[in-house]
Amino acid sequence: MSEPILRAEGLRKGFPGVQALDGVDLSLCPGEVHVLLGENGAGKSTLIKMLSGAYRPDEGRVLMDGRQVDIRTAGDAQRLGISTIYQEFNLVPELSVAENLSLGRPPRRFGLIDKGAMVRQARELLARVEVDVDPRTPVARLGIARMQMVEIAKALALNARVLIMDEPTAVLTTSEVDKLFVLVRQLRDEGVAVAFITHHLEEIAAIGDRVTVLRDGRSVAEVPADTAQDELVRLMVGRPIDQQFPRRPAELGEPLLKVTGLSRRGAFDDVSFEVRAGEVVGISGLVGAGRTEVARAVFGADRYDSGEVTVRGRRLPPHDVHAAMEAGLGLVPEDRKGQGLVLTADIGENLGLVTLRDATRAGFVDRKGQRTAATKVADQLAIRMTGLNQEVRTLSGGNQQKVVIGKWLVADAHVLILDEPTRGIDVGAKVEIYQLVNELTDSGRAVLMISSDLPEILGMSDRILVMARGRLVGELAAGEATQDDVMALAVTEVEGSRAR
Ligand SMILES: Nc1ncnc2c1ncn2[C@@H]1O[C@H](COP(=O)(O)OP(=O)(O)OP(=O)(O)O)[C@@H](O)[C@H]1O
Ligand SMILES: [Mg+2]
Repeated sequence: MSEPILRAEGLRKGFPGVQALDGVDLSLCPGEVHVLLGENGAGKSTLIKMLSGAYRPDEGRVLMDGRQVDIRTAGDAQRLGISTIYQEFNLVPELSVAENLSLGRPPRRFGLIDKGAMVRQARELLARVEVDVDPRTPVARLGIARMQMVEIAKALALNARVLIMDEPTAVLTTSEVDKLFVLVRQLRDEGVAVAFITHHLEEIAAIGDRVTVLRDGRSVAEVPADTAQDELVRLMVGRPIDQQFPRRPAELGEPLLKVTGLSRRGAFDDVSFEVRAGEVVGISGLVGAGRTEVARAVFGADRYDSGEVTVRGRRLPPHDVHAAMEAGLGLVPEDRKGQGLVLTADIGENLGLVTLRDATRAGFVDRKGQRTAATKVADQLAIRMTGLNQEVRTLSGGNQQKVVIGKWLVADAHVLILDEPTRGIDVGAKVEIYQLVNELTDSGRAVLMISSDLPEILGMSDRILVMARGRLVGELAAGEATQDDVMALAVTEVEGSRAR
C-alpha cells in the first residue's frame, strides 16, 4: 500500500445529545477507492463533513501528505484538493446547470461573467460524465438522477486529489451506476484517492479496494473490499441478517386503488391497474419511464388530462392532494428533502404532518395523542434520534427517510404509494421496512411500490408492472420473474406511443 494522501486520526465530534463520532481513523491512498460502510446514523456523513470543512472535529487531526492540516472551510478543502459530493445535494435549483458548474469561479472576460465560455465548459464536463442535458436548463427541472451526474461533473471541474462521494449511487439506475463506475475507475487510475459511501453491498467488491466499517461513531474494522458480504454485514450491524427479502404474502381482498386510462400528454399514456387489499404491486422501469409521474398524478400532486383514480370505491377529484389523503391515500416521494419533509421542524411535527389537518378540523389539536402515535412509529421504525424534538435537518439521511414513511403510518393510510422507499437505507433497516410492509398488508392495506432496485422489486412485490416510455408494457408474477424478464420489458420500444 502506498503512502496515504489523506489520513484522519482519532476524530471525535459531538452534537447536543449525541456523540456522532467517537474516535475514527481513516487512510485514503492514491489510486484506491475506499468504501465507508455503516448503518444509518453510524457517522459516515459526519466524518466526511470534517474532511470537507463543513464541520470542525472536537478532537483528532487530519494529515495531508503526512503534514497536519486545518480544514476550516469548504474553501480550505478545495485548496487542498479535496472535493466532496454530499448526500443531500448542494446544487442551487433556481440556477442553470452551467451556472451551478461554475459556482464561485465563473469564467470572466473583461471583468464580466463570460456566459458563452461558461456554457462551453459546462458542455465539456457534462460530456465527460456522459449526461445529455442542455447546460442552460435550470437544475430544478433535471430530476434526481441527472442532478447527481451534475454534482459529479462539478467535482471533476475542481481536479481533485481526494474525491469524496456520499451515497452517489443511491439515486442512480443500474446503467447510470455502470457509467459512474467507469468514471470513478478512471479517476482512481489517474491517482485520485476516492472515498465512497454506499448501502449497496454488491457495489463494494465492484468498485472498492478497501473498506472501513463504522459502528456507533467508531471505526471498527478495515478490511479488503472482497470480504464476503455476510462478514461485512456482521461487522456493520453486529449480527447476521438471515433473510434479505422477507415478503409474506397476505390474503387478498377488494381492490383499494383503481387507476383507469390515466394519461397526461408528454408523460404517461393510458395507464390502468389496480391494487387490492393485502397486495404489494411493484412498478419497475427505467428512469424516465414515467413511474414517478404516474404516482404523483394518482396522489393528486400533479394534474392529468384524462382517466380516473378510485380509492376504496371513491372516485378522486383530479389534482387534489387533500381529497386523496382524506380517502386514505399516502405517498412517500422519491425526493424526501424536497417533498417529504419540513426540514426545520422536529421529528414529532413531521410525523404528525398528515394527521394535523384532521385533528384541527375537529376543532382542537390533540397534541398528546399525536405525540403518542409518533413515539410508537419512531420506535417501530427504530429511528435513531435524541428525541421527537430533534430537528429533522440534523438526522442522518436514512433516518430522514424513515420519518417520511413514518408520517403515513401515523396517518394510518389505507393505500400507500412508496417511491424508492429504501433509497439510502442500511441493510438492517431495509429489512425493518419490509417487515412493516408485511404488517401493512396483513392488516388489509394496499401497497404500490416503485423501485429501481430489481432485487427489491422481485423480492417484495406480489405482482410487478413494468413501465416503458410512459406506458405499462407488461405484468409479471413476482414469484416467477427474473431480473432479465423485468429488464427485457423495461427496454421495450413503445410503438405509436403518444406519451413520448
Ligand atoms: N448537525 C447535527 N446536529 C445534531 N445531530 C447531528 C447533526 N449531524 C449529524 N447528527 C447526528 O450524528 C449521527 C451521525 O449522523 P451521520 O449523518 O454522520 O450518519 P450516517 O452514517 O451518514 O448515516 P446515513 O447512512 O443514514 O446517511 C446521527 O445520530 C445524527 O442524527
Ligand atoms: Mg449519511
